[in-house]
Amino acid sequence: MALLCRSTALLLKHSKLLPSALAATRQYSSGGQYQYIVVDKKGEKKNVGFIQLNRPKALNALCDGLMLEVGEALDTFEADSEVGAIVITGSEKAFAAGADIKEMQNRTFQECYGGNFLAHWNRVSTVKKPVIAAVNGFALGGGCEFAMMCDIIYAGEKAQFGQPEILLGTIPGAGGTQRLTRAVGKSLAMEMVLTGDRISAQEAKQSGLVSKVFPADQLVSEAIKCGEKIAGNSKLVSAMAKEAVNAAEGNRLEKRLFHATFATEDRKEGMTAFVEKRKAAFQDK
Ligand code: HXC
Repeated sequence: MALLCRSTALLLKHSKLLPSALAATRQYSSGGQYQYIVVDKKGEKKNVGFIQLNRPKALNALCDGLMLEVGEALDTFEADSEVGAIVITGSEKAFAAGADIKEMQNRTFQECYGGNFLAHWNRVSTVKKPVIAAVNGFALGGGCEFAMMCDIIYAGEKAQFGQPEILLGTIPGAGGTQRLTRAVGKSLAMEMVLTGDRISAQEAKQSGLVSKVFPADQLVSEAIKCGEKIAGNSKLVSAMAKEAVNAAEGNRLEKRLFHATFATEDRKEGMTAFVEKRKAAFQDK
């Protein structure tokens, strides 16, 4: 019921733009199930939140309803004190083939600008807990941008990344021009954004867009292993580290957050454990 209320409030906020999302919310009320995603907790200690995009007929095209559900799941994991990291994946064929072109086809400039279209996508980048994208298959347009909103990207060997918006007469609108440029450098980002050409998992690894490449069938378990490693550290200090890495402002903020770790018991425990040659027992305090 709580989910229904939160989701309904969100929908009311976006109601002009999101007719299809209403259907998704009705699903919560009837079955308590998500329509477009599968949500679980993974890892030996069930401390890794897990979201699988599950709209196979549309290659996980990111319709409004799907992105609202992702936001709901992230809210739930953020509030769950057991969860220390989150893994988001799609299917072997597609992480996500982009924002939903059929939904966007008839949208007007007035609707997009006036309704702040896609504002709800930002939840992926604002969640405090570290998020790992496990990308098999296509990560195109908004799908590539979604992966780049995550903190770490692992790719399956057959993954393909691209920003083909130019071929649709538009441009990336969810951070693609900014995050891709920071990840791979200006020349390759420009080439991808201006031609719509895709890069392979191997090229994505070489250029720094992804940190590791695995055989497709091992990708998700490797991402969960990474999530477990992260979840074993202080959640409080992980959130600070994430904020510092993501900060556009750079060094000043890093220093401020570094200093702030000294206000935590976990920092004291971590350094004390090192000196005492034992494993730290973090309390998230
Ligand atoms: C809506 C999509 C879709 C999308 C695929 N589908 N991508 N529906 N939005 N982004 C649907 C197809 O219409 C089709 O449904 C079904 O998924 C299978 O797709 P096919 O094209 O038949 O599959 P295939 O031949 O294997 O080709 C796969 C593909 C191609 C190369 C990924 O589907 C493709 O080029 N998709 C569009 C990729 C793209 O341009 N992405 C950027 C979107 S714009 P039906 O029912 O018709 O058979 C964007 C803007 C971001 O993301 C801005 C801010 C977020």
